[in-house]
Amino acid sequence: MRTRLDHLVTSALQQRSAVPAFTCYDFTTALAVVAAAEEAGRGVILLVAPKTAATPNGLRLIGALRGLADAAAVPVAVQLDHATDLQVMSDAVTAGADSALADGSSLPYEDNIALVLAARRLLGPDVVLEAELGGLAGDEDRAFSADQPADQAGVSVAGLTDSAQVEDFVSRTGAELLAVAVGNVHGKYKGEPQLRWDVLQDIAVRTHLPLVLHGASGIPAEELVKAAAMNVGKVNFNTELRTGVLATLQEQLPAHRSDGENLQGLLGHWNQSVGSFASTTLATLTR
Ligand code: 13P
Repeated sequence: MRTRLDHLVTSALQQRSAVPAFTCYDFTTALAVVAAAEEAGRGVILLVAPKTAATPNGLRLIGALRGLADAAAVPVAVQLDHATDLQVMSDAVTAGADSALADGSSLPYEDNIALVLAARRLLGPDVVLEAELGGLAGDEDRAFSADQPADQAGVSVAGLTDSAQVEDFVSRTGAELLAVAVGNVHGKYKGEPQLRWDVLQDIAVRTHLPLVLHGASGIPAEELVKAAAMNVGKVNFNTELRTGVLATLQEQLPAHRSDGENLQGLLGHWNQSVGSFASTTLATLTR
């Protein structure tokens, strides 16, 4: 069913829970995420990568996700992730996205605020806006591990959100959610993730806005369960989902080729891989 992303997140936080958000490059993944959410009786967020939304077929995918979200038995939001381009934001919302991350985190502070304000002017009050303060290192769509060349072997933390800027940023942007940099990275972590709970706590006391933790892949469950207590109501996953699907496909491919080029059977395994990751994650984040 349709929901406002900020309402979904706020009501989860009232129950000391957080809502997971999963990047969906395709409809098979989205179907499995929504089925897992329905089974758990919890709301969920479908994320669309900006590279997806920048193509005509990607916009058609957003339309399909909109239909899936509206028909679901639980609240489902469709969010354009990490958008820097106003035209892509506008196209994605026209296609069916109900929320966007207007991501000016790589820009100078004032330009970051200006991007969020421009997105608000363009998209209007009904589209929920997330803003990001403090940029994250790493690629949003590709992850490299330790067995790859040294310059690609995992990502080190870039900077941290400057908590002294939080009140000003939140009040001037008017965003409904705030993504933060607290030791999190996109993709694979170099070494063990070291989340800066002290920085997160410092941010949480300065704003009542729900906070968003990006780069959750690789953060152990026993860390993630602490997030909601710091007002982190939305937790974004992509890499771990991809790792699971690709490993499953690699393992299953030969048998399914031999079994009469059985693509339908292979898609069933894809669905299972996503479903089990989404179910585990929903359980981790729910109190
Ligand atoms: P990971 O790929 O590190 O899970 O990050 C996902 C994310 O933050 C999407 O916005």
